Amino acid sequence: MEDQSRAQAVATLYQIVSGMKTSQALHVAAKLNVADHLSQKPMRAAELAIATGTDPAALHRLMRALCAIGVFAESSGGEFSLNPAAEMLRSDVPSSFRAAVLFLVGDVRWRCWADLLGAVRAGVGGAKGALGMELFEFYAEHPEESEIHDQAMRALSSAQIGAVLEAFDFAQAGTVVDVGGGTGELLAAILAANPSLRGVLFDLPHVVAQATGVLTDHGVIDRAQVVGGSFFENVPAGGNTYLMKTVIHDWDDARSMTILRNCRKAMTSGDRLLVIDRQLPELGQPGTPGHFLPDLEMLVMSDGGRERTREEFAKLLADTAFTLAKTVSTKSPLSIFEAHPI
Ligand SMILES: C[S@@+](CC[C@H](N)C(=O)[O-])C[C@H]1O[C@@H](n2cnc3c(N)ncnc32)[C@H](O)[C@@H]1O
Repeated sequence: MEDQSRAQAVATLYQIVSGMKTSQALHVAAKLNVADHLSQKPMRAAELAIATGTDPAALHRLMRALCAIGVFAESSGGEFSLNPAAEMLRSDVPSSFRAAVLFLVGDVRWRCWADLLGAVRAGVGGAKGALGMELFEFYAEHPEESEIHDQAMRALSSAQIGAVLEAFDFAQAGTVVDVGGGTGELLAAILAANPSLRGVLFDLPHVVAQATGVLTDHGVIDRAQVVGGSFFENVPAGGNTYLMKTVIHDWDDARSMTILRNCRKAMTSGDRLLVIDRQLPELGQPGTPGHFLPDLEMLVMSDGGRERTREEFAKLLADTAFTLAKTVSTKSPLSIFEAHPI
């Protein structure tokens, strides 16, 4: 290999391994609410350290590093302030990314990713080894982490929701049942955009507890019903369009099939099921980490969860008495797999 290509290859690898340091630096800034403090006024490290309860010299080092990677700005006088990326770390801005940072590189993920090697060796990973229990059990027992998960889902979902609404016409969807619908953002957006529709939000009881506020804020609570339960037992009947956004990817094929069969039991012919998930390309081509890194995340975080190709979705659906009628791509990484009961 020529010297220049060797140097370029090493630079590429160096950039990849630096990801650990940059993401942790960002995580600490989010945890300490640095952006909220700087939204009051620019501050020198000493003043910011008092506000955040940290060591002034160490905080100074953190802030310089963050400025160097494009988050926050430092003036010639040594004052730190917000730049556009840092603005999105404020907790009080629309679509704030702070919860997403806490979620994506916080303690829960850090612990699970620490054993990627073990997961690759064993073929399965999952939160059980790292957290002592499966992820959704962990959230049920840790309200603070569960709150971060729900807030992050809201932040990460907002761009996806716009893309789903743009890609799919819900006008004739009748009663929409959002299965594993979290705190109701997608359902609320669908109902708000389509005044003739009704909706049912279905998720675990501790999750749907927060949904009434979301549905009320969107002005759709009078057309929505909130139901707590487990999709491994049953799914509410009576809908016309059943949705599952980023739900199936959490589970292995056996449990995905249980969920799909429970949807099928709740549905009648003529109803539609929309599975909204990433569509994994068949081959790992450069430039597609947005698909394949979430798949690795499923390997380390969930007990058998995975992103799937179109063929894999078609097979899961065929095995649970559905036929895959069409696949609609969206401007987000998600695709909509429309299935009809056989
Ligand atoms: C990745 S989140 C997706 C949430 C939402 N659909 C979205 O896209 O923002 C998966 C959802 O499945 C829910 N869930 C997990 N286990 C469940 C169960 N047994 N019954 C019903 N919902 C469950 C979680 O509470 C969570 O809201």
